[in-house]
Amino acid sequence: MVDTNSAFVGDIPGNYDKQMGPVIFEHMAQIMARKVAASAPKHVLELAAGTGIVTRHLATVLDDTHIVVTDLNEPMLEIARKKFSETEKVSFQTADAQDLPFEDGTFDAVICQFGHMFFPDRAKAHAEAARVLKPGGQYLFSTWGTNAENPYSELVIETLSAAFESDPPGFMKIPFSLNDATGILGELRQAGFTEPHHEYVEHAPSVESFDAFALGLILGSPAYFEILEREGDHGEIARTLAGHMRARFGHEPSTMPLKAHFFQTASV
Ligand SMILES: C[S@@+](CC[C@H](N)C(=O)[O-])C[C@H]1O[C@@H](n2cnc3c(N)ncnc32)[C@H](O)[C@@H]1O
Repeated sequence: MVDTNSAFVGDIPGNYDKQMGPVIFEHMAQIMARKVAASAPKHVLELAAGTGIVTRHLATVLDDTHIVVTDLNEPMLEIARKKFSETEKVSFQTADAQDLPFEDGTFDAVICQFGHMFFPDRAKAHAEAARVLKPGGQYLFSTWGTNAENPYSELVIETLSAAFESDPPGFMKIPFSLNDATGILGELRQAGFTEPHHEYVEHAPSVESFDAFALGLILGSPAYFEILEREGDHGEIARTLAGHMRARFGHEPSTMPLKAHFFQTASV
């Protein structure tokens, strides 16, 4: 049985990067890169970096900074690697965010876009970030708002629940499961970080093709394995999902709302 919580492997990374990335991750990645660049860090660690969507923006705005790009899943990093030339100061390493293979006090910033929802022990991830940061180093990460605040995800859940009534898949709840800002700020204080703060960001990306986006969600996330295990038809489910998206958000070119939380704090 595949661990659907964190199985970004096989053909998932390519589909994730091409079909989902431009719609839901790109704009949030630009915001993250701007926030990180504000403190002009020289040595950055990126956690759960996936296919390098944030990294690409960060390396462009901070061209003299060394970025260590990590993720639990090597297949995600393989896609990320292709986005950088040999002259760029970017290196790649598989690493679990809860058990980092780096010395204490190494980095000026530790950053992560939409990764913390997948860490089974978040307190450990915060503690590891605190450990590898230099004193005063920045810790920045983002999480999604609720499923209702990101309604495309509700349509995925509804479509999959209708397709597999007796055994509905659960993956699509996980990315939206970490939206209690007050609780997360408390976690950061508990981990010894100072003056943590939070910003709520809304965005309405334009969608050129709900067919491509729906297929990306079905083939580019661990929902792929959930459908495989239930012997479902990925193409048919993606077509049904695209129809629901059109009915909810209007025919393409269309837009749909997204909401995310950004957290920023410093180590002592
Ligand atoms: C939704 S993706 C976000 C990727 C990237 N940050 C982005 O914005 O596109 C979640 C990522 O978390 C990674 N991941 C899951 N569990 C992890 C862990 N324990 N440590 C590090 N990365 C993990 C997955 O491999 C996946 O690439």
